[in-house]
Amino acid sequence: MIRNLEKINYDSSKSSQVSISLKVLSDYFKLHLNNNVNIEDFFSEKIYSRIQENLIEEEEIYKVVSKSEYYKNVNDNFLDFSNSRKSIRSFSKELIKIDIIKSVVDIAKNAPSVCNRQPVKVHFIQNKKTIDEILDIQGGLTGFRDNINQIIVLTSDRNYFFSVGERNQLYIDGGIFLMNLLYSLHYHEIASCCANWGKEYQEDLKAEKILGLKPSEKIICVIALGYIEDTIKYTLSKRRTVDEILTVVN
Ligand SMILES: Cc1cc2nc3c(=O)[nH]c(=O)nc-3n(C[C@H](O)[C@H](O)[C@H](O)COP(=O)(O)O)c2cc1C
Repeated sequence: MIRNLEKINYDSSKSSQVSISLKVLSDYFKLHLNNNVNIEDFFSEKIYSRIQENLIEEEEIYKVVSKSEYYKNVNDNFLDFSNSRKSIRSFSKELIKIDIIKSVVDIAKNAPSVCNRQPVKVHFIQNKKTIDEILDIQGGLTGFRDNINQIIVLTSDRNYFFSVGERNQLYIDGGIFLMNLLYSLHYHEIASCCANWGKEYQEDLKAEKILGLKPSEKIICVIALGYIEDTIKYTLSKRRTVDEILTVVN
């Protein structure tokens, strides 16, 4: 994507996502400049100047906070609680105990599901060899592998669904459970980052074998999790505005 910079619509006033992307690109250019790394072949000074002209400077893209600051809203109202959850990709060496994971799942299981069929299963994995085998297939957390010592593999079982019309329901129920799980982890002051499982059939088979899953059990998501260090850095991942999302049909 970075090779298509010439084609970018630079008007940041029309889209929250264009606006934040320009800020990220600007910081990317400056980082390389400050480190004397030449990226002129795909990111020229001319493009950088054009980005600067359209930049909204006050955009923040990441934050560094203390552990107590990060978790200060976990017992607050839902607005502050929900605003305070972020994907965290760096964990301390301290391991989460099984009793705590049981308590996490106990809240996550409040997730609604079609006809209350509850097709979701939580596989909590602590064996580093198994974790690395799964992350090898997943492929999206390469920069953070070393400090991932516990993961959850969330699955949903298609045997709970019967008609063609229900073919996507396992993913919908899985997604709803996943969000509740992320909130439950946050409530327990456990940091997490989802890892996308958009895999080909052969990769699915490989993972099913490693984890001993039933053929009907499909992976929804891999979640890296753990406690955080005393200070953390996380990306703000700016959201689209309500007006960009909401259409009112009268
Ligand atoms: C299903 C799913 C898959 C994701 N996969 C990855 C991934 O492979 N690597 C990664 O670094 N982040 C991954 N993320 C994290 C997203 O980048 C993150 O949720 C998004 O930027 C919003 O940021 P926030 O979670 O801090 O609010 C994933 C998130 C979801 C929900």
